[in-house]
Amino acid sequence: MALAGRCARRLHLLLCSVLAGAARPPQQVPAGCSAPLLSASGQRGVRPTVPTRPLVTKKGKAKDKGQSQARVTVDAASVEDVISLEEVNAEMLSVMEALKEDFSKNLSIRTSAGALEHIIVTTKDGKFPLNQLGQISQKSPQHIIVNMSSFPESTAAAIKAIKESRMNLNPEVDGQIIQVPVPKVTREYRESLVKLAKQHTNKAKDSLRWVRSNAMSCVKKAKSTVSEDTIWQLEKQIQQMTDDTVAEMDKLLAAKTNELLV
Ligand SMILES: *[C@@H]1O[C@H](CO)[C@@H](O)[C@H](O)[C@H]1NC(C)=O
Ligand SMILES: *[C@@H]1O[C@H](CO)[C@@H](O)[C@H](O)[C@H]1NC(C)=O
Repeated sequence: MALAGRCARRLHLLLCSVLAGAARPPQQVPAGCSAPLLSASGQRGVRPTVPTRPLVTKKGKAKDKGQSQARVTVDAASVEDVISLEEVNAEMLSVMEALKEDFSKNLSIRTSAGALEHIIVTTKDGKFPLNQLGQISQKSPQHIIVNMSSFPESTAAAIKAIKESRMNLNPEVDGQIIQVPVPKVTREYRESLVKLAKQHTNKAKDSLRWVRSNAMSCVKKAKSTVSEDTIWQLEKQIQQMTDDTVAEMDKLLAAKTNELLV
């Protein structure tokens, strides 16, 4: 799975960061960590320390209820020798985007002909969306047909692709026509998708924790070169970015649950 792969990659990066300091090529620096910091061991005095000008603007207490803690906003440019906050942010966003895509591609109830159009069919000539190989039409809410008369040799491949499309479909061949009965969507099926959505959200949160701990270890490494206050602000900023993303994931899950259980 995509998220699991991401975890593995994170783990690799985390290990790299633990082992960092030896002569490592810059591309193995963990995401967000600035390369000079990691390669600078043994080159004392080379690193510029972060200037002492204020790094944050405290926004004060947020006005909306439930947000009683003051938020920090670290100026990314002022800490770029320690960590790339943009990169950490991009990593977090990409975990979020992967979850969004997973929700829409894998966990949606689809009963219209349009849902079949983009199923990818693997033929001996390559991969094609189903609507380039066959003519898809909806005969009734419970019945879609795919007319394969233009590419009859791809019928078997098309059937296979429809079966494997994770849409709960059982196509049947009828000469050059593929009959696709659309199952009535049961409550049970909807609930099973909700359960999956929860599981996938938890996996995404695990991935997010990897990004967070990777970033935190990056910051800790800078302890000898930047002020305690900077470290504190950065840790707070990273935690805040994590919490915000978790909150967004929870929102996404709530919306998905609503959509599935209409
Ligand atoms: C949908 O699920 C499959 C199988 O678990 C996975 O490989 C794929 O990455 C998922 N798609 C998205 C967009 O996450
Ligand atoms: C399938 O398409 C062919 C060619 O366009 C057409 O002659 C045939 O009537 C179609 N079959 C069905 C069942 O729609």
